[in-house]
Amino acid sequence: MLSGKKVIFGMSGGIAACKAAGWIRDLARDGAEVHVVMTRNAAEFVTPLTCAALSGNEVVSDFFDQGSAHLIPHVNLACEADLILIAPATANTIARLAHGLADDMLAAIVLAARCPVIVCPAMNSAMYENPATRENVATLRRRGMTVADPGEGALACRATGPGRLPEYAEVREYVLAALAEQDLSGLKVTVTAGPTLEPLDQVRYLGNRSSGRMGYALAATARRRGAEVTLVSGPTRLEPPAGVELAPVTTALEMHREVMTRFESSDVLVKAAAVSDFRPETVASGKIKKAECGLEIRLTANPDILAELGEKKGNSARPLLVGFAAEAGENLEEGKRKLSRKNCDLMVVNDITASDAGFASENNRVVILDRNGGEERLPLMGKEEVANRIWDRVARLRGG
Ligand SMILES: Cc1cc2nc3c(=O)[nH]c(=O)nc-3n(C[C@H](O)[C@H](O)[C@H](O)COP(=O)(O)O)c2cc1C
Repeated sequence: MLSGKKVIFGMSGGIAACKAAGWIRDLARDGAEVHVVMTRNAAEFVTPLTCAALSGNEVVSDFFDQGSAHLIPHVNLACEADLILIAPATANTIARLAHGLADDMLAAIVLAARCPVIVCPAMNSAMYENPATRENVATLRRRGMTVADPGEGALACRATGPGRLPEYAEVREYVLAALAEQDLSGLKVTVTAGPTLEPLDQVRYLGNRSSGRMGYALAATARRRGAEVTLVSGPTRLEPPAGVELAPVTTALEMHREVMTRFESSDVLVKAAAVSDFRPETVASGKIKKAECGLEIRLTANPDILAELGEKKGNSARPLLVGFAAEAGENLEEGKRKLSRKNCDLMVVNDITASDAGFASENNRVVILDRNGGEERLPLMGKEEVANRIWDRVARLRGG
């Protein structure tokens, strides 16, 4: 996701430096070229040798280090960077950035840079809540820097409250958003994801194997590209992506209600959920007894949400409708029929019988059909990559 990107990883002198050091490896694993710049005090917590080994590049700290590969390191590094990520950002470093100081390498690089800057504060709660720090954070935000909200909980100083370094998964979203083209900016997007569970009695349900990964990937990537995203999700084991509004549902009827209430306000509606076609006609109270073997369950049809959305949309251009057709085998004809019958703009067809892709897999192999007869066959790829290809098509359709 970050290949070809040069990231300056600024580290200041807080206890969370040891946690943040692991992110150097995470960024490199995502393909970034990472250059660590440490304040003098950061080196009291983590050694420059560790950071050099994790990043694979020399660590820069001292202005006047004659051994540096750069002639004027702060200017050279600032010019070449695609992104600066500061973690942990101490109260002291935040204050120095807010006041535009350039008295150490990290502060000077930030001052000389024109690329996006992400700041991840980590400190004792009282320090974070101090009006001085609050004003400094507000100043950085006002100037266009992204300042992550720290997590809450038990801190290294034994206090409890806000001040924990956020988790990498959340910061990764800021990183990817800062580097992504904001071509979905201004759009309101609703994505559905996951399975629906249809109760049989008070403990059992009919469900399906959808993991929700495709829908969550669509929500995360749309958010990174600037959209305002709501994720209507059946029960999954996944964490909702940072910055996405979650509307949790369980049954198809609940999903129907949540989606329909968002019809008017959505510019794009993507139905990636595996909605149960049927539900038990009656829900037994308590627990159906084992003795009732040979039990027959009468099913009744759930609403076809996508078809209803298509009907409601009629000839209007908005919302742009994207459906998913999970087919056994590469059944493009059925996908094309669904695209036209349900009045969709795009239909993403995936083969649920493939052993290396689909429902519970990290990967997907799909064909994207569009309402003008276009057909784009994608090779096996990660679900975030598939999601980005779908958004490319959406952006193109909206651009005419
Ligand atoms: C053991 C220890 C832990 C510290 N942890 C933090 C911290 O988590 N956050 C913070 O803002 N300052 C922390 N400090 C204070 C900073 O190290 C101090 O403010 C220093 O001036 C920061 O310098 P720098 O911002 O240039 O790296 C800690 C100090 C010590 C001795």
